[in-house]
Amino acid sequence: MNRNPLPHDLYSFLARRMGEKAVSQRLRMQVEHASSWFGKGFGHIHLENLDTFVNFVDTTLRLSGMREWGRRNSLDFRIEKNEVSIPGLAQELDGFRILHLTDIHIDGFIDGGEAFFSTIAPLHCDLCVLTGDYRLLTHYSHKPSAIGMSRLVTKINATHGIYGILGNHDFLEQVPALEESGVRVLLNEGGIIRHNGAEFFIAGVDDPHFYGTHDLKRALRSRLQGIPTILLSHSPELYAEASALSVALYLCGHTHGGQICLPGGIPVITHAACPRYMAAGRWNYGNMSGYTSRGAGCSGVQARFNCPPEITIHTLRSKGAGL
Ligand SMILES: [Fe+2]
Repeated sequence: MNRNPLPHDLYSFLARRMGEKAVSQRLRMQVEHASSWFGKGFGHIHLENLDTFVNFVDTTLRLSGMREWGRRNSLDFRIEKNEVSIPGLAQELDGFRILHLTDIHIDGFIDGGEAFFSTIAPLHCDLCVLTGDYRLLTHYSHKPSAIGMSRLVTKINATHGIYGILGNHDFLEQVPALEESGVRVLLNEGGIIRHNGAEFFIAGVDDPHFYGTHDLKRALRSRLQGIPTILLSHSPELYAEASALSVALYLCGHTHGGQICLPGGIPVITHAACPRYMAAGRWNYGNMSGYTSRGAGCSGVQARFNCPPEITIHTLRSKGAGL
């Protein structure tokens, strides 16, 4: 896919790409977002928008002496490897590697992102996908996250480039800066990735969780019959619709795997209207494979327990190649 020219008229530029109704809804909700904790997507109540709740958790960790432990855990990145069989994938794409980063909340890293950057830099993949939430807060300036993301892009080694979508912490106004950095943002859009003479379709939808401005049919409208489809969605909440529309692989994040979990990685809160088994790691629904990354960053408090931050590498396998 070619990169789009940068917009002079941002509204028209976005409306042409993601649909006018979705842009209008999102812009209206973004204005309200700073003071609201009620959304229009699958999750109706959003505690992450409530500063009092975040302060309560942070204070509780501090008083219990666990805050520093949780902060150290927030930089204990794990590289998770997921091999996934894709029906209809050409043999030429067997072994194709996708670096999947999500929920980076890049302006929240307690070390300025240094540990994350140094973990990413040695990795080499065929494609990089970003499934949203670049920014820490759901309001306030997005410039610190734009600076961080432009730095991150220089650390990513991916032959076919970087594709991303927006999450519920992101505003549409972040799109030009992300695309100037080299991220191709999919705004209810899709396109073909060609590799070794074979191809698959990649689609990305806008945030289904808070904004509810996803449009999967629009994202798939240029898909050709017989080509496997990989979908990027911020949260797992579109699993039923995606499966019905023959998506082969569904990549997402948003849940942070719970971020603060009970021993054994059992999440206390997932912030997603989906079955619990979709909160972290690989899952299946119908004929569709899915993967929910625990994410790289933290939302709210900069702490993790029993749920280390994740960098994921998916390896695609053509059916019959064996796993
Ligand atoms: Fe999110």
